[in-house]
Amino acid sequence: MYKGRIECSGVGKKYGDFTALKNVDLLIEAGDFLVLFGPNGAGKTTLLKILCGMTRPTSGVAKVGGADSHSPEIRGKIGVISHKSYLYDSLTAFENLEFYGQMYGLENPRARAGELLETVELAQRKDDMVRSFSRGMTQRLSIARALVADPDFIFLDEPFTGLDHHSAVAFQALLSALHKRGKTVLMITHDIPLGVAASTRVAILKNGRKVFDEKTDGLGGDKFMKTYLEVAGK
Ligand SMILES: Nc1ncnc2c1ncn2[C@@H]1O[C@H](COP(=O)(O)OP(=O)(O)OP(=O)(O)O)[C@@H](O)[C@H]1O
Ligand SMILES: [Mg+2]
Repeated sequence: MYKGRIECSGVGKKYGDFTALKNVDLLIEAGDFLVLFGPNGAGKTTLLKILCGMTRPTSGVAKVGGADSHSPEIRGKIGVISHKSYLYDSLTAFENLEFYGQMYGLENPRARAGELLETVELAQRKDDMVRSFSRGMTQRLSIARALVADPDFIFLDEPFTGLDHHSAVAFQALLSALHKRGKTVLMITHDIPLGVAASTRVAILKNGRKVFDEKTDGLGGDKFMKTYLEVAGK
């Protein structure tokens, strides 16, 4: 079934003369939770940007749910949580989510906004403008924003950045619940124990190449840490 699947074949990305990604083949099956590791500059964010249609590969093909990752029909099926919040500073938390709900053509954007504000524990701040939010609160609202359209694919680039301990634990539980509901998840993190625990598969990028890709079954955090140090070298 290709519906919830992600497929990269021979994906490369050059910025001028610099090669950020080289010949990456990757198959993420529907319902997989793939965690992508690798040193700074390895090309992880570049790969995620290609998969969510934010930048084009310079070679190869990237498909999400059977469609080219740039095709408009797949956009609404992808939820992205990254360093950019994609929130409007001069709108309130509620208005931001309502706006995205309207944009995605939801039947009841206000109800969805209210529900998600409860999920990320921001209901009490719903009428405050985003510009008054702390970094962690903005991140929590960004998580809610990514989930407005109940996407089939969830792409996360270091999503724990800025979250306090309580919010990080709550977010891990939310991610696990979404995964159990059948979402296909791709997460980038530098936190090896956390990433391995959440994953069904782990992959490592180094210098733009995929150098490791395995199912997590039986692969504990300690064992993977050893592999990571051997493969990624730092
Ligand atoms: N728009 C761009 N123009 C030029 N070079 C870029 C651009 N975006 C990324 N790069 C380069 O591509 C390489 C990979 O960057 P990328 O952001 O994908 O790394 P990363 O694995 O996400 O690293 P980190 O762990 O630091 O987030 C880096 O050397 C970076 O400088
Ligand atoms: Mg990155």
